[in-house]
Amino acid sequence: MSKNIETHLHEKRIFKPSKEFSKQARISSMAEYKALYQESIDKPSTFWAREAKELSWQKKWTKVLNWKAPFAEWFVGGKLNVSESCLDQHLSTHRRNKAAIIWEGEPGETRTLTYLQLHREVCIFSNILLKQGIKAKDRVIIYMPMVPEAAVAMLACARIGAVHSVVFGGFSADSIADRIEDSGATAVITADGGYRRGKVVPLKDSVDAALEKQSGVKTVIVHQRTGGKIAMKKGRDVYWHEEAAQVSSVHEAKAFDSEHPLFILYTSGSTGKPKGILHSSAGYLTGAYTTCKYIFDMRDDDVYWCTADVGWITGHTYIVYGPLANGVTQVMYEGAPNYPDFGRFWDMVERHKVSIFYTAPTAIRAFIKAGDHFPEKHDLSSLRLLGTVGEPINPEAWMWYHEKIGGERCPIVDTWWQTETGAIMISPLPGVTPTIPGTATLPFFGVDAAILDENGNECGPNEGGKLVIRKPWPSMTRTIYKDKARFRKTYWKDYEGKYTAGDGAFRDRKGNFWIVGRLDDVLNVSGHRLGTAEVESALVEHNSVAEAAVVGRPHEIKGQGIVAFVTLKEGVLDSPELNQELRTHVAQAIGAIARPDEIHFAPALPKTRSGKIMRRLLKELVSSGKVSGNITTLEDVQVIEALQKSIAQAN
Ligand code: PRX
Repeated sequence: MSKNIETHLHEKRIFKPSKEFSKQARISSMAEYKALYQESIDKPSTFWAREAKELSWQKKWTKVLNWKAPFAEWFVGGKLNVSESCLDQHLSTHRRNKAAIIWEGEPGETRTLTYLQLHREVCIFSNILLKQGIKAKDRVIIYMPMVPEAAVAMLACARIGAVHSVVFGGFSADSIADRIEDSGATAVITADGGYRRGKVVPLKDSVDAALEKQSGVKTVIVHQRTGGKIAMKKGRDVYWHEEAAQVSSVHEAKAFDSEHPLFILYTSGSTGKPKGILHSSAGYLTGAYTTCKYIFDMRDDDVYWCTADVGWITGHTYIVYGPLANGVTQVMYEGAPNYPDFGRFWDMVERHKVSIFYTAPTAIRAFIKAGDHFPEKHDLSSLRLLGTVGEPINPEAWMWYHEKIGGERCPIVDTWWQTETGAIMISPLPGVTPTIPGTATLPFFGVDAAILDENGNECGPNEGGKLVIRKPWPSMTRTIYKDKARFRKTYWKDYEGKYTAGDGAFRDRKGNFWIVGRLDDVLNVSGHRLGTAEVESALVEHNSVAEAAVVGRPHEIKGQGIVAFVTLKEGVLDSPELNQELRTHVAQAIGAIARPDEIHFAPALPKTRSGKIMRRLLKELVSSGKVSGNITTLEDVQVIEALQKSIAQAN
């Protein structure tokens, strides 16, 4: 039995939603949830047609679903413009002059954009893109700080039918270059820089470095955020504000097919380079809209704040598309949670009267460590609903969130989903589901989730297995960009016609889903996905390194830390300086989140006789210092002793 299952069996705390919350919630009883859930599974077309109708369509669909596993088409024959549902449709309502985004820069300045103003900015930027020759289906890289212009850029791409691919601002020049190459992007939208922990992150410099390797990019549009000095290449680079002065602020949104590609977002897999997860328009938007409405219970008088970055799927679905389609007011923040100190988030919640707050367990653990005096200094009474995402939440972090931030009155929605799923799949409904620290509880409407064993049989209560989704859902990824074979192989090969998520999980006797963690070689560092293969390939690119193997180990704040085992080339001597240099090298090659926590130099790596690295042994070594089970397939048993010594010395 895994440790998580044992922990859960001791978890007796259960929290029912308050009567007050249930009374005003959209779904207010378990019976109502069950009835709607059943309908969504038995008659998905009826359920999803009703939800999709609430979006803005230029032409209604003729068929809700075409499903030829693993390829789905939703709302077939329909036409819409995603940006109209997020913007235009609100302009003829009371939301016209309502705040859409209340933005706060890290240094402290604030800016508010109403729906009308945001619409105007998106129309202007759409005209800038068109003037630069960018057309429907062209791929556009967005590499921006957390400023409203990041959302404007995404929505303008959607408006003209271009496919955006947002690259997280913490990723390196090499990561940008890889994504440009794979997507075949012809334009990059960036900023001179952004603020993070009091320093300027030189985004444009990284774009310049990436473009030394990539010649396909014809246009770089630069938003001036910091006013710092940057190089502007003639004929390629233009300033956003200068272009804006030359174009019209009127843009009529054209309709695109429901299945028109909306974006590609790269995410790590267990092998090779990150995969381009492709999402299309109508189904994705329906998923984003519906989950915001029911799970975050978004209302007109809410102030919602999701602390993610638009560089991740959470920022796409729960900062840009979902909240705007719901017409909610949201807070957007540029910087770090601990700038100038760990009170920043709570100060912002108090000042902006945030009512719905969505963050990651890793942030909560960092807050716990920083001390209760930070939240205690602030009035958090505006909060009514809390959410978490990205990794399993440990009961201690859950309880702290519930008591210190939620004042024991706010339901917590622990939301399980993935870049590939596009929207939340398993989560409590805030007015309905009793919550227990550590479980994402029950599937959302239309999500036929199950735990299967190796033979494809459904696991019994408290029995661990693979988390799968047995039916298509609207916001599911349509494919891996340009790689259908990899799409099939990665997600659909374990069980015919069923989506394998890559997570291990189990259900308790009440049917709650407990996510244990990844079953593959994907790490989850501070809620961010990283492939061990990516870190290994960065290490072996260094000219001192012969071989590398990377595994995760439990980390108090980050959830998982990165441990690398490295053998050096003939004649290279290990040293603390080289150890440091290799850690920096990985951070430069991928981004700071990939910096290994520990590197161990080893005379050799444990391999099978056929030459495969035995990762299982490395994982055991870093978590317990010992190895168990069968090691007779190991080529050289002494390797283990040498590694054990190195780990013992490091600790
Ligand atoms: O392992 C699961 C974990 O994050 C993975 C997906 O990562 P990514 O595509 O980057 O998306 C993160 C944000 C949606 C999953 O395979 N994960 C995500 N949410 C949870 C979670 N693990 C446990 N509980 C969650 N609530």
